[in-house]
Amino acid sequence: MMWSPDAYNRAIDFAAEAHGNQMVPGKSYSYVVHLANVAMEVMTALATSRSRDGNLAVLCALLHDTIEDTRITPEEIEKRFGAPVRRGVEALTKRKDIPKEDRMTDSLNRILRQPPEVGMVKMADRITNLQRPPDHWNSERIRAYLEEAKLIHRQLGHLDAKLSKRLEHRIQTYAQYA
Ligand code: NI
Repeated sequence: MMWSPDAYNRAIDFAAEAHGNQMVPGKSYSYVVHLANVAMEVMTALATSRSRDGNLAVLCALLHDTIEDTRITPEEIEKRFGAPVRRGVEALTKRKDIPKEDRMTDSLNRILRQPPEVGMVKMADRITNLQRPPDHWNSERIRAYLEEAKLIHRQLGHLDAKLSKRLEHRIQTYAQYA
């Protein structure tokens, strides 16, 4: 099932309101650019895989950071976008009540219990984020980010061939900074 442009519009408006003045870290432009880029990655992958739920993937892409980074609650997501989107966004949200080093593994385990569209969003998110690291990152931090990207690829790569390939390529490119 293809995504609907109306659902995209509703979700990006909602996310833009929720994220307010937040910027993409290290850049001087709106965080909404990140959300739109993640949605774009997912939509490109969806164009060749008709068995996926396009709206679930696109809505989770646009809303993936609302619970983690804004005042939006899971209940609000469910009310506006339905329970499957709420569950997807919750799986994509890192738990703050567990040790930092366990948060990605914990999130990936919860993502794997969701429909494949949710894992596609996680891959699209990391593809989008694997750009030139901010100048203040030391090599240890860059290497850790690279290792985390490899973990995401290992755990979720089977869910979508196109995103898996793009993530693999970005990992190779990013390795030059490590
Ligand atoms: Ni993100």
